[in-house]
Amino acid sequence: MSSVKEVFSGIAGVYDRMNHALSLGLDRRWRGIAARSAATSPARILDIACGTGDMSLELVRAFPRAQVTGVDFTPEMLAVARRKCAGEGRIGFVEGDAMALPFRTDGAGAPFDFAACAWGFRNFPDKGKALSECARVLAAGGTLAVLEFFRPESRVLGALTSLWLRVLAPVLAPGKGRAYAYLRESMKSTVSCGEFVSLAVRSGFVLKSRRFLFPACTCLVFVNNSHSSKGRVVV
Ligand SMILES: C[S@@+](CC[C@H](N)C(=O)[O-])C[C@H]1O[C@@H](n2cnc3c(N)ncnc32)[C@H](O)[C@@H]1O
Repeated sequence: MSSVKEVFSGIAGVYDRMNHALSLGLDRRWRGIAARSAATSPARILDIACGTGDMSLELVRAFPRAQVTGVDFTPEMLAVARRKCAGEGRIGFVEGDAMALPFRTDGAGAPFDFAACAWGFRNFPDKGKALSECARVLAAGGTLAVLEFFRPESRVLGALTSLWLRVLAPVLAPGKGRAYAYLRESMKSTVSCGEFVSLAVRSGFVLKSRRFLFPACTCLVFVNNSHSSKGRVVV
């Protein structure tokens, strides 16, 4: 079992409470903004690293006719998501790795026309591979919306965020210190928003827009898939 998986399996039961507390409730607002401003009216949506399902729920609210598929590699997070979304027939969950998405594209064309990934990319060791997987399963011209705590470009803001997590996390979830040490470290060592955009462009996406939702770190990026399923550039 990989250590990222262990971290999330260990905090699945407290993840939602921690998320809302540490972000002062702003995580809900940020997912809502990402879902609502994402695309015109996609019918088939992929929620990558869906965790406990909050982004999938925002997506069905934003697109009343869409089908949403959430994919995540941590069974304990998916179990919470399945319980939480039990009454919502337009959401389905699949266990799988973002760097080897469990969707076939040979002959059948791309299965999704919009994809969202909220706070997932920071955890993927090979972000280029995860981006090419998104490009493979997204229709040409389809949008990928990424909400992430990228590495703050300002060292002062980086230090303040780390201090916030160091002080608050042990109070809010005693005994989960290892998981929140991972969260702090992953924020420090991940790519900046600008570096992520460069990676996305190298993987066949075109930057549509980007917006900082919280000073210097929480960033919402929309990129369009510029490749057809046969690898042709379509922009
Ligand atoms: C910070 S949580 C985000 C969950 C959710 N998207 C949200 O909005 O709260 C990160 C999630 O990414 C998942 N994850 C990390 N690496 C992954 C990978 N390689 N493939 C699939 N899921 C992954 C974890 O299991 C975890 O559920």
